[in-house]
Amino acid sequence: MAPADPPAAPPAGCDLGSGPWSGAARLLAACAHRPHDTTPVWFMRQAGRSLPAYRRLRERHDLLAIARTPELAAAVTRMPVDALGVDGAVLFSDITLPLLGLGVPFEIRPGVGPVVADPIRTAADVARLRVVDPEEGTPFVLEAVRQARADLGDRAALIGFAGGPFTLACYLVDGRGSRDFPRTRGLMHAEPATFAALMAVLTDTTCRYLRAQAGAGAQAVQLFESWVGILGAADFDRHVAPHLTRIFRSLRGRVPAILFATGAAHLLRPLAQVGSPGLSLDWRVPLDDAWAAVGHDRFVQGNLDPAVCLAPWAVVRPAARDVLDRAGGRPGHIFNLGHGVDPATDPDRLRQLVEWVHRAGRAGADGTAAAQPVR
Ligand code: CP3
Repeated sequence: MAPADPPAAPPAGCDLGSGPWSGAARLLAACAHRPHDTTPVWFMRQAGRSLPAYRRLRERHDLLAIARTPELAAAVTRMPVDALGVDGAVLFSDITLPLLGLGVPFEIRPGVGPVVADPIRTAADVARLRVVDPEEGTPFVLEAVRQARADLGDRAALIGFAGGPFTLACYLVDGRGSRDFPRTRGLMHAEPATFAALMAVLTDTTCRYLRAQAGAGAQAVQLFESWVGILGAADFDRHVAPHLTRIFRSLRGRVPAILFATGAAHLLRPLAQVGSPGLSLDWRVPLDDAWAAVGHDRFVQGNLDPAVCLAPWAVVRPAARDVLDRAGGRPGHIFNLGHGVDPATDPDRLRQLVEWVHRAGRAGADGTAAAQPVR
């Protein structure tokens, strides 16, 4: 499926900046399946961890303090655009922030992740959760979106995000990260009505939170349903899919949405059925097979193994080439990693990768892509 039209001009409504295609225009064109000048690229977890400027800031402020201070969150959001040249800027925040609005105390422990002191285990615990308006519960997140968007202009598309309801439930019920969240799966099986009530509250919260981010200026949103791959397809269909369907229905016509899950090769088709226009793939699935499985009417994001970026450039380049080859030059591919940037990654390697993707993904003058045909 070659692009039908030459990538002659960026979508209307984009400030053209210095060149004909801004980073934002390129990424949003991919979300809309429109031809673009070259493959857009950003990296999950690009805003923290490996960037020296972020590490310096972290010596003075903890993660939640940065996320709750709009000036700092907006500055960190912009850092990878300046440092790496990416086309997408993911909002600096964390999936746990809406828990502040819900009234669930938690902390983020370095090297551990979110820890909830009093996990949600009973119907009474669920009944105590309060769904509040995001402007009331997390106004600083929306202010960070406004500031980041004003700051970025069209250099990069601002990508808002939220945790998926199942992934949030995992932290709320198990209380902290785990290999396969046995307490969460236990509640789901033992008390399906309580689990469904929890999922409904989290879904409600997530719909409002993502819509508010779009209203504040996020140009695309990603739902990190990171841990849903621990479920089999039947449990996914019964306990999670209806909630995800609600979320993507509530975003339709407002903002392009991307659904991300790891270790979910067995769920590709069910994930494609919950109505997300975009899917972000981890590195365990070959991109061409996965794109065919979810349907070429979806846009896809991915899927270089983040660990490849720890290797020399001579290893990174052919691995990135393979991802582009599998995308086959179709409009609707956003280059990304299969999960977050490893903290040990050299930012120079990421900068080199962005430059290379922009060069290698460049479409020919007739609108056919430079990338090799799909194997
Ligand atoms: O992508 C970005 O750069 C934007 C910011 C972002 C963060 N968390 C900031 C953060 C995003 C998109 C997330 C998403 C997130 N947070 C997920 C989704 C899936 C994933 O793994 O990418 C999950 C499960 C969480 C919960 C969470 N927060 C975990 C598991 C951890 C790691 C704990 C650790 O130290 O290893 C965090 C902490 C966290 N959130 C960091 C960052 C930059 C790293 C630690 C820090 O800087 O203090």
